[in-house]
Amino acid sequence: MNAIEQALIFLRNGKLVAIPTETVYGLGGDARNPAALAQIYHVKGRPMTNPLIVHIPNIEAIHDWAIEIPESAFKVARAFWPGPLTLILKRHPSVLDLVTGGQETIALRIPNHPLTLQLLAEFNGGIAAPSANRYGRLSPTTAEHVRVELGDSVDYILDGGPCAVGIESTILDLSQDFPAVLRPGHISVDALETILKTDLHTKHHSKIIVPGLSESHYAPHKPLYLLEKDVLWETALQLALEKKSFNLLSFETPPFKIFPNQWITEPCDPIHYAEKLYTDLHDLDEEKVSCILVECPPNTIEWEAVRDRLQRAATALKPLLF
Ligand code: TXA
Ligand code: MG
Repeated sequence: MNAIEQALIFLRNGKLVAIPTETVYGLGGDARNPAALAQIYHVKGRPMTNPLIVHIPNIEAIHDWAIEIPESAFKVARAFWPGPLTLILKRHPSVLDLVTGGQETIALRIPNHPLTLQLLAEFNGGIAAPSANRYGRLSPTTAEHVRVELGDSVDYILDGGPCAVGIESTILDLSQDFPAVLRPGHISVDALETILKTDLHTKHHSKIIVPGLSESHYAPHKPLYLLEKDVLWETALQLALEKKSFNLLSFETPPFKIFPNQWITEPCDPIHYAEKLYTDLHDLDEEKVSCILVECPPNTIEWEAVRDRLQRAATALKPLLF
């Protein structure tokens, strides 16, 4: 039996399967099976009011999950699916409350990963899958991350290698009178506006509640401080002088006299940065260090999605020393 066949058996029996996607690994279960959905919340330790994304096999399947679907939904779906874009639409009455957290909306996407696309085609239903990490923690971008984080509480892990995009999908709300981006991601606001031929609103204008998008999220175990370059080096030097062990994620090599326990230099390009981000944070989240220092990426639109994840991962936005 191959891996897909095995995963299918687990899904059909209401069990949980970690699925690879191009963004992050998902903790998947049959979106029509209440027991599987309850188990997802249980394993993640996530409040039941925080709804799940349903992964579907093809664009036509939108009709199984949503109603009053605007033409704009099909336009962006044709342009970006399979891909890192989640659409919020009005829910179909048959959708279980456990999927939507009791809201009148549903989140849908077709992920772009060959194994999961094959799994979805054969399953011929919807797979509800939040990121396969415990609530509030770093998202997994390799099968090993899932194994370490969830262990035996996931029934099967479909190993599809490292995720190509590395951060969670862009969430676009099309359930209201105006389209709004609720979570920035790899598919940019610009790219969406080009297809939709209209300006997008931000989540602050939206009435939709996105419970998972609380301020603190995607966090490593160790405190993470997100610092502008000058403050970063000052703080690192101070920690080094105090003989405190710390890890560092920066764009440049640390200057002389600053010796982190481990440091990683990041590429100055947001796409490659995003691809490595969670893997690097997983690696830097070591027991033996007191904290992780991260250099703030530029405050520009291209870096919005990466900055969003780092700001949520940060323990405090205020500098460590002051
Ligand atoms: O890239 C991704 O989106 C990954 C992969 C596995 O597909 N999934 C993911 O799921 O990031 P999760 O559960 O970690 O984040 C989904 C977000 C949550 O913030 C949730 O509150 C929001 O989507 N969401 C889900 N359904 C919603 C709904 N009906 N209305 C509003 N927000 C919703
Ligand atoms: Mg998540």
